[in-house]
Amino acid sequence: MILITGGAGYIGAHVALELMQQGDDVLILDNLCNSYRSTLDRIAALSGRRPGFIQGDVRNRGLLDTVFADYPIDAVVHCAGLKAVGESVREPLRYYDTNVGGTVTLCQAMAHAGVFNLLFSSSATVYGDCATMPIDETCATGQPTNPYGQSKLMAENVMQSMVCSDERWSVGLLRYFNPIGAHKSGLLGEAPTSTPNNLLPYLLQVASGQRAALSVFGRDYDTPDGTGVRDYIHVVDLAEGHVKALDALRTQRGVQIWNLGTGLGYSVLEVVRAFEKVSGVQVPLVFEGRRAGDIARCWANPEKALNELGWSARRSLDRMLADAWRWECHLHQEEATTLVS
Ligand SMILES: NC(=O)c1ccc[n+]([C@@H]2O[C@H](COP(=O)([O-])OP(=O)(O)OC[C@H]3O[C@@H](n4cnc5c(N)ncnc54)[C@H](O)[C@@H]3O)[C@@H](O)[C@H]2O)c1
Repeated sequence: MILITGGAGYIGAHVALELMQQGDDVLILDNLCNSYRSTLDRIAALSGRRPGFIQGDVRNRGLLDTVFADYPIDAVVHCAGLKAVGESVREPLRYYDTNVGGTVTLCQAMAHAGVFNLLFSSSATVYGDCATMPIDETCATGQPTNPYGQSKLMAENVMQSMVCSDERWSVGLLRYFNPIGAHKSGLLGEAPTSTPNNLLPYLLQVASGQRAALSVFGRDYDTPDGTGVRDYIHVVDLAEGHVKALDALRTQRGVQIWNLGTGLGYSVLEVVRAFEKVSGVQVPLVFEGRRAGDIARCWANPEKALNELGWSARRSLDRMLADAWRWECHLHQEEATTLVS
């Protein structure tokens, strides 16, 4: 059985679905601080089975000990965490407590229970402002420019030290680039509980009439059209990467680092134009100054994951945007009461 912390969230839910579709038993632990219980119904509807669920906090050591004692868990996918950059600047202690403290507590409980296979949701933000593109895993980690990024790097360092001290561990650090998109059914996707921080969820809210215009932060970067360039990856490709990485963890020891990206960079304006083409909806734009902490360009070299895991992202930008738009439209057809149940 695989424990997914944060499994009711955007990425964790897609990972849960992929694992269940290939026959794994999944237990989700989530405190629902940024997700909805109804996500479990969506996973059940799509997979034909219901994942186990415990509403609880990864910082609760007593609860974790009970969970590991009660269920035959042999690996953990650790997605639980806080991820809003701006919020992390305002509330750094909450971010370090959850993202670093929660990881320490989880690792302690795993060691106590004799479970040593761990996959961690890390981020390309740990590379900081890398001078050369594309970024491969040998690039030095940089200086993340906000507490969120720092907390991800600190959590990685915690696990690196832990593995050095005990050779029973097998840890995979998955450095996600920019996950977007949704399940092709339109039944599972990202459902922000507050003002979105990232391009796609914000763009979708503008396109569906919930917000007036999309703010584009910076149009004077050293990029072809002056707007920031990122490596967007379909969330289902990302989830498939987790399945492959979990398989690899079971036959390896130590720490493995894998970039999960496509290797392609798209600018903000390219994403907006592609979305307009795919959806037929115009997106009003407002150009603003650069946002503190944002970098000009960031895209992955994903070859290590291809060579070591046999994984590569397969879904195009158009597909990511079409799936995300289908999900957004579906969300609006539902009664608000159904979603927030
Ligand atoms: N979405 C991205 O762009 C992105 C990029 C890089 C890395 N990540 C990382 O991937 C992970 C998942 O991201 P996501 O986009 O699915 O976010 P999300 O907010 O949708 O999911 C995180 C889940 O963790 C839960 N959670 C938070 N604190 C918890 C706690 N203390 N105990 C138990 N559950 C808790 C939330 O309720 C939520 O369901 C995060 O760790 C995030 O930092 C995300």
